[in-house]
Amino acid sequence: MATPTIVMMPGDGIGQTVLPEAQRVLDKVGFSANYVHGDIGWEFWCKEGNALPQRTIDLLTEHEVGLFGAITSKPKEEAAAELDPSLADQGYVYYSPIVGLRQHFNLQLCVRPCRTFAGNPLNFIRRGVDGIEEPPVDVVIFRQNTEGLYAGVEWTNPPDEVRTALETHVKMGAYRNTPSEDLAISCRIFTRAACRYITEAAFAYAEKHGYQSVTICEKPNVIRETSGMMNAAAREAKERHPGIDLWLTNIDAQMMWLTKNPEDYGVIVAGNMFGDIISDGFAGLTGGLGFACSANVGETCAVFEPTHGSAPKYADYETSIVNPIAMILSAAMMLDHLGETSMAGAIRTAISAVLKDGRTKTYDMMKMTGRADVVTRGAASTSRMTDAILERL
Ligand code: NAI
Ligand code: MG
Repeated sequence: MATPTIVMMPGDGIGQTVLPEAQRVLDKVGFSANYVHGDIGWEFWCKEGNALPQRTIDLLTEHEVGLFGAITSKPKEEAAAELDPSLADQGYVYYSPIVGLRQHFNLQLCVRPCRTFAGNPLNFIRRGVDGIEEPPVDVVIFRQNTEGLYAGVEWTNPPDEVRTALETHVKMGAYRNTPSEDLAISCRIFTRAACRYITEAAFAYAEKHGYQSVTICEKPNVIRETSGMMNAAAREAKERHPGIDLWLTNIDAQMMWLTKNPEDYGVIVAGNMFGDIISDGFAGLTGGLGFACSANVGETCAVFEPTHGSAPKYADYETSIVNPIAMILSAAMMLDHLGETSMAGAIRTAISAVLKDGRTKTYDMMKMTGRADVVTRGAASTSRMTDAILERL
């Protein structure tokens, strides 16, 4: 196979800290690749009025694989205030570059594995009839990444033609007397193509990786049209994969079952908003943001990133304290994507060994507040955690 080229996009804050740590691990495991740097994030919004410059899109178009740290996003007014004065009042609007990447490349699958590593002090525990239990969680969430409530079709003070169109629906009668300026509308848009794509991908993944069930977490009894379309697509997919069970749950009940019987779930599918919620829920059972990895996958491009953001308050510490594991696990997902499954497995095994050994823990694993002095109080620094993983490779 030709040597792949990886577009490295550190972004902002701790993204710039954790991405190089992942590269150290990729080098150590013997992954042979070319790396090119991709500009993305706040700095480019401020300087150029675009947090996702076209040159970065071009690099991803050419090389098709990206490894991304994190970006900083700020509310509209703050974004406008930090824009270079020479660009003011020229119509520049801040858009999140990661949402932009997902939409530009139609990265319609967001895959978020949530697996417990034995020995991680942050693992979920539960009081059972026979005392405290630590059920192993091994769930892979497939979140629809481009549509639904994140499609961006929304208004405060909707234009008259939107109101008129909506009033063709009988339920809109309830808002007849609400002035438009007091009305906010966010559309939840699902397409059958995307529902079919994600449910088929989830069943195929379950089959390939030995999961028994696919669970669709939606709310079809209330949000009948969109959730109903997802469930219908899931039933079709189930017919093509008769050996995998299909469970249909409601997102609210699922959040309750999250801590009751998380070990019973395998692959989970949800629309964009519910997928975001359920993946954070499961991530909380398996170590939290320091462990939560993800892949944004489309037909022509894939971008791998930790779920966490840029954690700006930790970005300027002289010794970085954040946990690099989420980023390193995201790099392992990239290796799987490129067919380097034994290297990916070796990285996970090394992380397992470090956690089982228990001597190296970042501050989040010690339930400390993330102050600059945590290293002097026994927490491993970011690079010390990576070193421990490297020693096991
Ligand atoms: P965040 O994920 O950056 O940080 C929240 C808290 O989680 C931190 O204060 C820290 O306590 C903990 N944390 C995060 N990463 C950690 C790590 N690797 N190890 C240990 N602890 C860790 O979320 P927050 O503070 O809500 O947002 C900060 C900025 O990041 C915002 O500008 C936000 O828009 C952006 N963001 C970007 C994302 C992305 O790049 N995909 C995702 C989420 C937020
Ligand atoms: Mg989130």
